[in-house]
Amino acid sequence: MRIIENSQEMAQACREACRPLGLVPTMGALHEGHLTLVRRARQENQRLAVSIFVNPTQFSQGEDLSRYPRDLERDLALLRQEGVDLVYAPSSKEIYPPGFDTWVDPGALADRLEGAARPGHFRGVATVVTKLFNLVRPDRAYFGQKDGQQVLVIQRLVLDLNLGVEVVVVPTVREPDGLALSTRNSYLTPEQRKAAPVIFRALSQALVLHRHGMAGGEELRSVVRRILELEPLVEQIEYVSLADCGTLEELDVIAGRAMLSVAVRLGQTRLIDNLILY
Ligand code: PAF
Repeated sequence: MRIIENSQEMAQACREACRPLGLVPTMGALHEGHLTLVRRARQENQRLAVSIFVNPTQFSQGEDLSRYPRDLERDLALLRQEGVDLVYAPSSKEIYPPGFDTWVDPGALADRLEGAARPGHFRGVATVVTKLFNLVRPDRAYFGQKDGQQVLVIQRLVLDLNLGVEVVVVPTVREPDGLALSTRNSYLTPEQRKAAPVIFRALSQALVLHRHGMAGGEELRSVVRRILELEPLVEQIEYVSLADCGTLEELDVIAGRAMLSVAVRLGQTRLIDNLILY
């Protein structure tokens, strides 16, 4: 496994790599969710690159950039076990050198939900993902459904800018009690961790009711909201959304694929999750 910090060296290694070449972009602090992406990518590609970069431009002011967990040695050991060929672990200066002043600004899809709660977030994501795609030129790139809006923004980005990368979306990996795996789960206190599966219970209840014929957007959003409100450790429900998968516009009635998604705060920790209804 080659570990590369320098962008030109990475681009060169990727040019020389056998094809197809898969890329799993990450911010490190790897867990089973990331490793599931890595395993899928390993099966589907001749060569596999993983990037590890805590991208400062996708964190808003006051967010958890400085306390975001980092453990490069552990991450590298995990990736070695998975048979990864190339790891790109650049510094911030390597990605954003002095004078850096070009941004990829996604449109309306990125203004809603996470974009509304975290201004500039998707501009940061779209910029770094475009840079990674340009350096690595992967045939396929792997993202988790857990960050459902991110997936939609990246699919749009690839289409609009003709990036020529196949975006592979991998189902959310969950703990046995339903909690979606996330780096931010490590911030939860034991009590909050016990309460957190309420998110999946609420989404699942709406999914079941939808399968039994409930199709009204407001009805389904209320089901989720009511279940979340029953959990005292959920201090804030930032949003409950049932939106069209193409546009992320809120739906009055489901007709086609819809993303039911939530963002809640348990204490200081903000968790998101989603299920696709159709
Ligand atoms: O999903 C993530 O970990 C990040 O948003 C990504 C795609 C690696 C970009 O920094």
